[in-house]
Parts: sequence; structure tokens; C-alpha cells
Amino acid sequence: MAQDKTEPLPKLLIVEDDEGLQAQLKWAYEDFDVTIVGDRESALAALRAEEPAVVTLDLGLPPDPDGTTEGFAVLDAIMALKPETKVIVASGHGARESALRAIEHGAYDFYQKPVDIEALGLIVRRALSLYKIEEENRRLAEQVGDDKTVLGGLITNAPEMMKVARTIERVARTNASVMLLGASGTGKELLAKGVHDASDRNSGEFVAINCAAIPENLLESELFGHEKGAFTGAVKTTEGKIEMAHGGTLFLDEVGDIPLPLQVKLLRFLQERTIERIGGRKAIAVDTRIVCATHQDLESMIANGDFREDLFYRLAEIVIKIPTLAERPGDATLLAKAFLNRFAAEMNPQVKGFSSDALAAIDGWNWPGNVRELENRVKRAVIMADGKLISVEDLDLDSGDEEDSEVLNLKSAREKSDRKIIRHALARTEGNISSTAKLLGISRPTLYDLLKQYELQA
Ligand SMILES: Nc1ncnc2c1ncn2[C@@H]1O[C@H](COP(=O)(O)OP(=O)(O)OP(=O)(O)O)[C@@H](O)[C@H]1O
Ligand SMILES: [Mg+2]
Repeated sequence: MAQDKTEPLPKLLIVEDDEGLQAQLKWAYEDFDVTIVGDRESALAALRAEEPAVVTLDLGLPPDPDGTTEGFAVLDAIMALKPETKVIVASGHGARESALRAIEHGAYDFYQKPVDIEALGLIVRRALSLYKIEEENRRLAEQVGDDKTVLGGLITNAPEMMKVARTIERVARTNASVMLLGASGTGKELLAKGVHDASDRNSGEFVAINCAAIPENLLESELFGHEKGAFTGAVKTTEGKIEMAHGGTLFLDEVGDIPLPLQVKLLRFLQERTIERIGGRKAIAVDTRIVCATHQDLESMIANGDFREDLFYRLAEIVIKIPTLAERPGDATLLAKAFLNRFAAEMNPQVKGFSSDALAAIDGWNWPGNVRELENRVKRAVIMADGKLISVEDLDLDSGDEEDSEVLNLKSAREKSDRKIIRHALARTEGNISSTAKLLGISRPTLYDLLKQYELQA
């Protein structure tokens, strides 16, 4: 397809410290507007100034004097600034681990060095076309404004959560074990189901077991099953949950609550991929994908000897942290509307929406119980409401505090954040105007204007 003359070339940023390679790569992308940089600082400057669609990033950049791993620092910075950027990381031989870790951190794909220019070109162009599709989708979503459902059932419009959903979509097709960490009610089970649905095991069963809800003495039999007569009350042979998940996905919820002796048994299953039912003698092979979740701090449990470290590493090939609802600005009201529509249809069809102070209260509330709390409160309010609109009283929430309405003035919020960012940039460059402008991705005259407007000193 011929490039439309009026349309600018797509931007590609290459982060590569090897000068020989730089020269080679420079000529490989004539259909891109290419920027090449060799270190972290220039990478970040270029990122701000160019806002590239695609970045190829050498994870093996030499480390900073302060010892941080350069490549990952750049990756994290890109994901923080523009999470929609498609980052393709290069890793050395056999660096599967760092490649996986990069994907966890939000990278789109990876390739192995030495570089095969043609193969890399394919990956880059595929990344670009995906970027364009997603960009188009974002534009449409903004226009339509009501379809915020991703991963079958997950409702969100927050980049923090989109990133989680994207990571899940990416890792779903691998067989890696996934650990979901999040406070209660953040959607761990929903996302676990999302992993299953997005995987090629989705024609198999999704089997969930809540390890905290089952008494210790029954948990072993629940997981591993038993033969008839294995113990008093074992009147017939019963399959355990692990076996039931053969060909599908096993979701171990509240995995931190598994007692130590069972942890040993579970570890053995993960190593050997076979189980024996209680009272049974034969090893049964089980092919299943493990997803687990917990709200507990497993690292401190490991330090206290309450959770086995070797089991942790088997379960945590990919770790995904789920942000709390308070960490996803805008999602509370979005979810509230979706829940209202659902519950109203089921229970009280005269309810059509929220009053404006009810919406403000939802937005201002901290939601310690996250989505689960929100769902419950909206459900209750729908039942209680006797008019068309749900009021603050129906929700049983205090309205948002003063500070919130102040910050909700867009102009003052922008000023506030502009000031903050400019001051940070000035501090980092020790007041150097050119470097500050570069860091901020704006021209020097623009920076001067802003300094004057906000009465800031360089
Ligand atoms: N982003 C979301 N979009 C739509 N529904 C959601 C979302 N997140 C959570 N829910 C719903 O909120 C409820 C709680 O979610 P879920 O059970 O997955 O959370 P959890 O982290 O497992 O909670 P808990 O720690 O209480 O077990 C469920 O009914 C779920 O369907
Ligand atoms: Mg749960």
C-alpha cells in the first residue's frame, strides 16, 4: 500500500548502544521515521519529544552508575508515560527469564540477539499495525463512550487496568503459571477466568477452589481426590479439583492459606505433573494450567517460614498486581453505572440513574472493599431507591470532601500538575533551560512562557 503523502511516517525509536548495529538498523526502516539512541537518558528524552508508536529496546544496555538495570528502567518509564507504546525488547542468549519479565512489565514482544534484521522488521511492522488498530479503537471508544468491556466481562477505562488486561491477554496463550495479587474485591477471580478464557485451554474446564474456605482436613481430598474406603466416610472414589482441571485451568484462590504439609504435596504435583488420590496407588498424569491468587503478603510469609519459597517460584512465573479501585480514577463511576443497569433490570426497573451528588460521592469515596463493595452498595441502593434516581442516602456514602471539588476544576488541576512536573524537571537539570525543555518535550520559548505564567524561577 502506498504511503499517503499527507500522512506522516510512523515513528520508531531504536534504543541500542552498539554503534555497528545502530548503523545497520538505521537503513532497515525506510517506511518509518526512525530515531536511534544509545543510552537511557536520550531514550527518555526521545520518548517525550517523539512519542513513538514502536520502540525496540536493548535490555542489555550497560547499567547506570547507580546500578539500576538500564533496559528495565527505560521500559518502566515508557509504560508509565505512554502505556500504549509497543515495546519490543532484545535479550541475549537464553535470557527467557528476562524476556518473560519484560512482558510482565508491559513489553509487547521480544527477540533474541544476534539480530536478524528481516525477522525483527516483521515484528516491528506487526507491532505497528496492532498499535494502529488499538489507536483506532481508543478513538472509537472515546466517541461511543459506553463500551468499556474488555477480556469478556471486565469493565474498565483506566490505563492501569488496561495494562493488566493486556498482560493477561499476552500471557494467556503461554502455559506459564500466573499469580494474581490484589486486595479483596479487586477482581482476582474475574481475571483468573479471563486468563482461562483467553487461553487455548478455554474449551476445557475452569476449576476454582478457595483454599481459605475449606477446612484443613478436607482440603487435601478436595485437591487430590480419594479412593473408595481411603478414610471413614469415603464411600466412593472421588476426583479432586486438580484432576477435574485436566485440559483446562486450575484456579487456586487464597493460595496463601494452604497449610505447609499440603504445600509440599502441591509442589510435588507441580514438579511431576502427576497426582495420586488419597488411598490410591497409581500416579495420574494431569495437564492443567495453574492460576492462583491471594491478598496475603507471601514474601513476608516466606520470611516467617509459613509459605515455601520453592512453591512460590513454581506458582509465580508471571506475577500480576491488580490495582485497587482507588488507583483507577474514573472506574468507580463507570462500574457503578454498569452495575446500576444490571441490577435495575433484574430488580427495580424504574431506577434509571444516579443523582449528580450520588455520582460525585461515588467518585470521591475511597472504596476500601473495591469493586465488590461498589457492587454491593449499588445493588442495595437499587433495591432501596423509590424514585428514578439513586441518591447519596440510598448509597449510604458521605459526599466527597471539599478538596475534591477544588481539584475537579480542570484548569486548576492542569496548572497544579504543570507546575509540579516543571519543578521536577528543573530540579533534575539543575535549572538548565535547554535540558529542562528537552526533558519536558517542549521548545525553549514554550518553557519560558510557562515559567512566566506560573511565576517559576529557573
Ligand atoms: N473490572 C470489573 N468489571 C466488572 N465487574 C467486576 C470488575 N472487577 C470485579 N468485578 C465484579 O466484582 C465482584 C468481585 O470480583 P472478584 O470476585 O473477581 O474479586 P476478588 O478479588 O476475587 O475478591 P475477593 O478477594 O473478595 O475474593 C465480582 O462480582 C466481579 O464480577
Ligand atoms: Mg476472590
